[in-house]
Amino acid sequence: MQIAIMGFGTIGSGVAELLLKNQKSIVAKSGQASLEIKHILDIRDFKGHELEKYFTKDFNDILNDPAVSIVVECMGGTEPAYEYVSKSLMAGKSVVSSNKELVAAKGYELLEMAKENNVNFLFEASVGGGIPIIRPISQCLAANEIGEIAGILNGTTNFILTKMIVDGMAFEDALKLAQDNGYAERDPSADILGHDAARKICILASLCFGKHVYPDFVETEGITGITSEDVEYAKNWGGVIKLIGRAQKLDDNSISATVGPCLIQNHSQLASVDDVFNAILVRGDAIGDVVFYGKGAGKLPTASAVVADVIDCAKHTAKRKAFGWGPTEENYVIDPVLQSTALYVRAETEDYITAFNEINKTFDSPLILHRDNAEKNEIAFVTPAIREKEARNAIAKLPIDVKAILRVLDY
Ligand code: HSE
Repeated sequence: MQIAIMGFGTIGSGVAELLLKNQKSIVAKSGQASLEIKHILDIRDFKGHELEKYFTKDFNDILNDPAVSIVVECMGGTEPAYEYVSKSLMAGKSVVSSNKELVAAKGYELLEMAKENNVNFLFEASVGGGIPIIRPISQCLAANEIGEIAGILNGTTNFILTKMIVDGMAFEDALKLAQDNGYAERDPSADILGHDAARKICILASLCFGKHVYPDFVETEGITGITSEDVEYAKNWGGVIKLIGRAQKLDDNSISATVGPCLIQNHSQLASVDDVFNAILVRGDAIGDVVFYGKGAGKLPTASAVVADVIDCAKHTAKRKAFGWGPTEENYVIDPVLQSTALYVRAETEDYITAFNEINKTFDSPLILHRDNAEKNEIAFVTPAIREKEARNAIAKLPIDVKAILRVLDY
């Protein structure tokens, strides 16, 4: 069986490396007589590369080659990835993708195309890098009604936050280190502004709750506004700040979906997830909470998930894997401020005592936070858990100038 790889960046080159390194055992597990790379598509030149003879700049070499049964897409972005993936599926080729942007934007359409053409469209590597999560949700946890999924879905921001918190590194230095290690997206704003995590929660929510969730349905905030003051207040409160993507199923079958920096307590299973590691908590009605933990980014961890999908495609040639979700619906994803949550607030005030009294009058048992060397006009507190809309309205009426508001979660 022959394979084409589209995109020879960090992940695509990792896929080739892994296919060659573990060729014997991979072929044995695939049930095929062989699994060979036939073409590698990339717009760049790879003169002198050991795989030079496979390179092409023309997608038609792959599309028109009947010997290619599996196409691996590691290009990133939606175009031309969408065009190439859809043409491959329609030509009867199975596709494996690591491209979360593509799956979050076009997953439903591509899954339908795969169904119509009796081929597979698999994307284990699109969420959590090397962590098995798509297959466990769709297979191992299939007996559960899943009520909630939440996690640290972006290795770059978790790495940056960890370096800032533990090593006192400046944001730019930590970002540079993440890029040097191959964790960050080509455009790091997708990581630090939360878009990468939003794409991943879209894929997870679509899979868990059965209807496509698009990125613009997800309220998204990144980590660029997090300051050392917030980190210190979180520490004194007994927790840490993590970028959390989460989606919950609500009673009326709508869902909520958000990405944002949140306070979580030190005893949370997500609190000790550091560096480039990701962790994804799935709450099922039969299993309870189950947490998947591992390397969420990087060349070989991500290639590990891609190649597992390649093996699965090779095993499911006659009959495709039944896998996917349905179209979205209007008003399927609600405004998260309609839900109940506690909020962390950091603010400045001209009169600390008045602000302190007003906060205590407004909220039932708010928790006033402290940190060493705080400016006299700085005040920080955690509200009780109430409907977020009411909490935000009440905060807006306080005699304070709000500098940060973060949700406080209790996983
Ligand atoms: N930039 C992504 C991350 C890569 O840091 O998690 C893996 O999706």
